[in-house]
Amino acid sequence: EVWNPNGKYRVVSTKPMPGNRWIDLLIEQDCRVEICTQKKTILSVEDIIALIGDKCDGVIGQLTEDWGETLFSTLSRAGGKAFSNMAVGYNNVDVNAANKYGVAVGNTPVILTETTAELAASLSLSAARRIVEADEFMRAGLYDGWLPNLFVGNLLKGQTVGVIGAGRIGSAYARMMVEGFKMNLIYYDLYQATRLEKFVTAYGQFLKANGEQPVTWKRASSMEEVLREADVISLHPILDKTTYHLVNKDSLAIMKKEAVLVNCSRGPVIDEVALVEHLKQNPMFRVGLDVFEDEPYMKPGLADLKNAVVVPHIASASKWTREGMATLAALNVLGKIKGYPVWSNPNQ
Ligand code: DGY
Repeated sequence: EVWNPNGKYRVVSTKPMPGNRWIDLLIEQDCRVEICTQKKTILSVEDIIALIGDKCDGVIGQLTEDWGETLFSTLSRAGGKAFSNMAVGYNNVDVNAANKYGVAVGNTPVILTETTAELAASLSLSAARRIVEADEFMRAGLYDGWLPNLFVGNLLKGQTVGVIGAGRIGSAYARMMVEGFKMNLIYYDLYQATRLEKFVTAYGQFLKANGEQPVTWKRASSMEEVLREADVISLHPILDKTTYHLVNKDSLAIMKKEAVLVNCSRGPVIDEVALVEHLKQNPMFRVGLDVFEDEPYMKPGLADLKNAVVVPHIASASKWTREGMATLAALNVLGKIKGYPVWSNPNQ
């Protein structure tokens, strides 16, 4: 699909993206916009080389693509100055290779913070209250009357929510769980989450002033402390060498037998084979997963487990957010082409 065929700068999007704002923005700034409409969900490096062609000023790409040495050298040879991932995560992007070939890299943080946190909260609730299992039961026509023991799950109020990686998304999730469900908080991050701490302190004081039980919070000195103490744990680190298999057989073993584990970050943060085994051995342990180690596949056995809620990487999938992400990705590319500042550069 081609928009504004006579535009001076050629910008390629490897996928159709929601809304038209991002296209309008590029057109207004004299870009010819080419959108790849191939049916194939995940494009290979060869597919993208063909899209880049002989002349290309910038590319908007997706987290399913492998943006390494080959693609950045190809883009640079085609005169390309900029690449933006339509994602906050950029573990699929070799930023050093981009630097080497003089291609600026952008990503799309902030706009998806609350949306992603909302999905982490939804998965926490779905897993704790066994919503998907109960839904399947209803649809299968198995409900034949109220029973005291039917789909008994965990009450969140008064339990402890554990957050690993208290950046923007982890902090937004923590606020939702503390304020929405009156959970106590324990978090682990390499850095202090000052804004989050101010919020929980003030919120605790507010509850106390209103005669309600105040919430407690603490910064853990290790990830293990969170795993041992929390009832609901949500993972929000970036994926790199240091966070690969952060949750593995050993870390699962120290978690509470009835804990809920949620992952909306990246699949390889959890050793999924170890997780499947743990879920089999501990039927009261539950997970809510948005991401998977070998996306789009699940490790064998996961799909059969009732104590797992699984969704297809949709944490940022609200209309408003996805349109915003597309717009920011376009702004990133445009910024570099036109010499304005790149809106968000993970390098900076
Ligand atoms: C991201 O942005 O990194 C998410 O995984 C998709 O929104």
